[in-house]
Parts: sequence; C-alpha cells; structure tokens
Amino acid sequence: MFDDVARKYDLTNDVLSMGMDRLWRRATRAAVAARPGERVLDLAAGTGTSSADYADAGIEVVPCDFSAGMVAVGKARRPDLAFVVGDGTQLPFADDSFDAVTISFGLRNIVDTIGGLAEMRRVTRPGGRLVIAEFSSPPNPLWSRLYTVYNDHVLPRLAAVVSSNTEAYSYLSESIAQWPDQRGLAGLLHQAGWRSVAFRNLSGGIVALHRASNPHSRATD
Ligand SMILES: C[S@@+](CC[C@H](N)C(=O)[O-])C[C@H]1O[C@@H](n2cnc3c(N)ncnc32)[C@H](O)[C@@H]1O
Repeated sequence: MFDDVARKYDLTNDVLSMGMDRLWRRATRAAVAARPGERVLDLAAGTGTSSADYADAGIEVVPCDFSAGMVAVGKARRPDLAFVVGDGTQLPFADDSFDAVTISFGLRNIVDTIGGLAEMRRVTRPGGRLVIAEFSSPPNPLWSRLYTVYNDHVLPRLAAVVSSNTEAYSYLSESIAQWPDQRGLAGLLHQAGWRSVAFRNLSGGIVALHRASNPHSRATD
C-alpha cells in the first residue's frame, strides 16, 4: 500500500494535516533531543522527511522502512541519508545499536505492536530512549467530534483530490479510529518492557507524543 502512495506522500500529508505535520515533526525532534555524536533510528521513516532534519542538525540518523517504494523516493530526494529497508518487527540491527529510536505515524501500521515495541527496545542501548508520534484521541468531546467528522468526511474527499491512492487514505481514518488512546498506548509500552513512560498531547490530542526509556537491565523482560 505504501509503495503506491510514495510519490505524492509528503504533499498529501501537508494537505491533509493543513501543514500541522511540520509542527508535529518539530515537537518530536525536540522530544528526542538528540545530541551530536548520538545515533538515532528513525523507524518507519517513509521517505525520510523527519530523518532529513536530524541529518541537517549533524545527528547520525538511520532511516528504516519496509516499503521499497517509500525508500526509493527518499533516496532520490536525499542520497546522503543511509536508508535501510527493514521490518520493524525484525530489525536488521544488533542489540543496543542506537541511543534513541523514534517512530512517527508508523507504529499504527506495524501489525504486531508489542512485538515492534520490544524490537525497538532490543536495538536501543540501556538508558536510551524511544519517542513515538502517533495519531491519538482528543480528550475534549467537542474537539473529538469535530476531528471525527474531519476524518470520516473531509479527509477521504481531500485525499481523492491529492493522492494517487484513495483507498490507502480510507484505511488511514479507519486505523486511527481503531488505535488505542494515550493511556492505552502507554500500557503497551510498559508491556514491551519500556519504563519512565510519559506522554503529551499535540493539537489537542489529535497527535500524542509518547516518551519512554530502556531500563538499564533486561531483567524486566
Ligand atoms: C504513515 S507512514 C509514516 C512515514 C514517516 N515516518 C512520516 O512521518 O512521514 C508509515 C510508514 O510505516 C511503514 N511501515 C509499516 N509497517 C512497517 C514495518 N513493519 N516495518 C517498517 N516500516 C513499516 C510504511 O512503509 C510507511 O512508510
């Protein structure tokens, strides 16, 4: 599915989020707070839009995604980035390879969520961190209602105009509706062995940023 939307993926994102995706990416990067000398895995990186900002700030970043189509578009745009084609549930990296792992709008797509979160922990060094940006559940009932109307009625129509694959964007609104809320995702992080789990809402909870750290011992497995 992602191979089919790759070419117009970033333009479609900008239109469907009304440019908010740029603010969400900036907030995610601030939460990762990577310092020069650190190595960051940007998982489900798509075309590498988020990864490019890390690289431009002098951070060693590895964009990894299992869609060869998304990676091809990313590589054409940024040949300097070390893209890796890989599956989030079986990452092609050694244990403790990264200081931080981040995943933006990709965890929802990994079928085995807990398996993916455990695999992210395996490749994060002890004491390292995880930052997840993902669509979530606005706690304010009125905002939540407006957001549902947008997702169910406006987003599919806009996607039909901008995107090359309308079905993929019907899947987007369905998968958002089925995804756990902020506390639910925090619980899944705990189950996968992550600790110091915290979250904060962006755009009134349309997106949530979850942060967690990898305990120093694997005894919590
Ligand atoms: C909505 S896009 C997000 C892309 C990018 N992170 C961004 O913020 O624009 C979701 C991405 O998750 C990738 N993906 C889905 N399942 C995956 C898996 N099991 N392992 C790695 N990537 C996966 C898709 O190929 C797609 O590029």
